[in-house]
Amino acid sequence: MSHLIAPSLLAANFLNLEKDLEMLNRSEADWIHLDIMDGVFVPNISFGFPIIDILKEKTQKPLDVHLMIVQPEKFVAEIAAAGTYMMNVHYEACTHLHRVIGEIKNHGMKAGVTLNPHTPVLLLEDIIKDLDMVLLMSVNPGFGGQKFIEYSVEKVRALKNLILKKNAQTLIEVDGGVNLETGKRLVDAGADVLVAGNFVFSSENPVETIRQLKQL
Ligand code: DX5
Ligand code: ZN
Repeated sequence: MSHLIAPSLLAANFLNLEKDLEMLNRSEADWIHLDIMDGVFVPNISFGFPIIDILKEKTQKPLDVHLMIVQPEKFVAEIAAAGTYMMNVHYEACTHLHRVIGEIKNHGMKAGVTLNPHTPVLLLEDIIKDLDMVLLMSVNPGFGGQKFIEYSVEKVRALKNLILKKNAQTLIEVDGGVNLETGKRLVDAGADVLVAGNFVFSSENPVETIRQLKQL
């Protein structure tokens, strides 16, 4: 499988979301990445359900929802009702991760677990076979446009080894500071899905930028 591209809407123009969505619909983007922040788990607040509902009317692309919130288990039903394809919860936000994963799947969604930069991939050893995806943060979550943390490439390799060792089918997604240079190294290390926010939306020609990321 060639890798997937999931542009992060956080970097879009919220005064004209429809235009950016039309661009994404025309592009080779595989998924649309949505960053939900609560001002508690991360030091920023983004957007919530009303925005996801509007998006769903304007795109057929699968929604990859990244919850940077405490107690994400409270919102599994709402996230599913919004038409989400992949629900990502942070490892650091879930005391009962195994239970949350089961609930996400029971609601018909794919289950992803996100790791902050400081959280070792080995902590997922026991649960990896239950996960559809692991989302590795290559910046500290909360803001777009941050500098890529270099050791993320090593983490992708370590996670890939764990997935192979356990004979799991889990996808590896990486989020934060992705551009053509970091993206290439991540794909070579085993990343299956690249999230890109500012690199896509700040570029002169976002459709072409997505195409270039897709070709890495
Ligand atoms: C950060 C978010 C990212 C962010 C990535 O907390 O999870 O998805 O939008 O933005 P860039 O690609 O600009 O680093
Ligand atoms: Zn994200």
